[in-house]
Amino acid sequence: MTPFLNRAVQVLPPALLLWAVAALAAYAEDMMGKVARATGSGHAAIASAHPAATMAGFEILSQGGNAFDAAVAVSAALSVAEPHSSGIGGGGFFLLHLAVDQSSVFVDARETAPGEATRDMYLDENGEPIRSASRSGPLAAGIPGLPAALEHVANKYGRLPLAQSLEPAIRLARQGLPVTEQTQRLLRAVPRMASPSAAFAEIFLPGGEAPPAGTLIRRPDLADTLEILSAEGAAGFYTGPRAELLVKGVREEGGIWSMEDLATYRIAERQPIRFRYQKVDITTAPPPSAGGVALAQVLNMLGQRGYGQLGEPAKTHLLVEAMRRAYRDRAEYLGDPDFVAIPLERLIHPWYAHGLLASMRMDRATPSHTLPGPVSQQPLGTDTSHFSVLDKDGNRAAVTQTINTLFGSAFVPPGTGVILNNEMDDFSVKQGAPNAFELVHSHANGIEPGKRMLSSMTPTFLESERGLAILGTPGGSRIVTMVLLGALAWMDGADAEGIVGLPRVHHQYIPDSVSFEADAMDDELQAALDELGHELRESSRPWGNMQAITLDYANGTLTAASDPRRNGGSDIR
Ligand code: GLY
Repeated sequence: MTPFLNRAVQVLPPALLLWAVAALAAYAEDMMGKVARATGSGHAAIASAHPAATMAGFEILSQGGNAFDAAVAVSAALSVAEPHSSGIGGGGFFLLHLAVDQSSVFVDARETAPGEATRDMYLDENGEPIRSASRSGPLAAGIPGLPAALEHVANKYGRLPLAQSLEPAIRLARQGLPVTEQTQRLLRAVPRMASPSAAFAEIFLPGGEAPPAGTLIRRPDLADTLEILSAEGAAGFYTGPRAELLVKGVREEGGIWSMEDLATYRIAERQPIRFRYQKVDITTAPPPSAGGVALAQVLNMLGQRGYGQLGEPAKTHLLVEAMRRAYRDRAEYLGDPDFVAIPLERLIHPWYAHGLLASMRMDRATPSHTLPGPVSQQPLGTDTSHFSVLDKDGNRAAVTQTINTLFGSAFVPPGTGVILNNEMDDFSVKQGAPNAFELVHSHANGIEPGKRMLSSMTPTFLESERGLAILGTPGGSRIVTMVLLGALAWMDGADAEGIVGLPRVHHQYIPDSVSFEADAMDDELQAALDELGHELRESSRPWGNMQAITLDYANGTLTAASDPRRNGGSDIR
């Protein structure tokens, strides 16, 4: 049904186009919330935050593409289908596993600070943060990395031309997607968080209102920008007339991008962090993500204190205390590895975890302020997107991409259709000043021209004799602990469905409290943790949007699952 409908969308006259769009939407709805399972070889699996993006990936696989071509297609399609979370106006991390030689690579497409950026650019005359400046409008936007990553991944790792893998996204942008009730709710929240620009409002808030559910939103300018990317490669985005439009739009509204900032943007290929925990090989995100270091530290601590053998409340207490210590270190040490010296080997070494455990008591919570070092932390957004891909040859992609908070800076340079990120808010705007997510910062993550802001995005592979898992999630500062809990669940025997559905617990050093989803802890456990001195905060809302794939080597069962908290789409073909 899908190829037929896709073709129909291309050739049908406008009157019938709406029918085709509605049929596609119904097909997508069918995929939503589905947990896909298949047994036997020769299958591919995709789990993403939007069924249309998952379908884009399968379309490219059916044309002979591999997991990396599919990742390009899903990534670009999410730019259109999930505009509140990620897009070509932002950045991301692509963790890739190449079946041919069993190697892994981390493509760092994180945004960079513009050349005119300065350390104190978001402080007022009293030295206090002007929060709106780092979160709303073009001054909040870093130089996007995603367009460069799409070209790089397609050219270096894919089998198909970039243009072919971008085709589904271009089609989605031209044909439009209906506003869902969730999108409508999110759009209503935008004016509370940012001042939407005129070009943003023209697309998403016509007449100043979020359009009713079912309204078709078409993105012709974005389709044109994607077509330029398709025809000219990344150079079409970072140089020439489209770059001029981007820079003009940004500068006219008080931003500081230059043509040189765009022309000199480069992705970085980095070695993923690799370590072992109880016979499981973990491959995950290195700095400028804070995720991999924290995962290694927490698991090293859990392993040394026999986490798996503990009962409650000792188990959750140990988990929380390990999270606290890992987030403290992240605050102190982590930033862009091209700008700050990070003692990476030391931080992820088991002996170092041994040292961290010296300050831990099993009969009492450690107040965060009693730990040595600065009370500092970095800011993180909550709207981001993750997808996981496995092709039939065993190539894997775990990709987390973002424009930071909901609809990024809510700024669209006129004529481009591109929503710019507000990733500059992930820098340390002022040391020690808490941001909207109650996080404070250190100088390691201070603003410097060309520097990448620290991230929490943690695309991750797990592999053992039992099988493999590909996972990741959005969720701001909670990304790392969600991936950690997902990894622990997989090690305990869960498949993709179990991983994404798990209730979540989180501690991030500052604020000094254990936050948890409603089902994560029963009354007895809460009372016991309270007794140990933990402050507990039940979250009024669930968090995360995990997209996971698992493969069990023993019985050949492949499972793809999207987080039941949101409306993703997972499938196996
Ligand atoms: N902007 C979310 C993150 O990178 O962690």
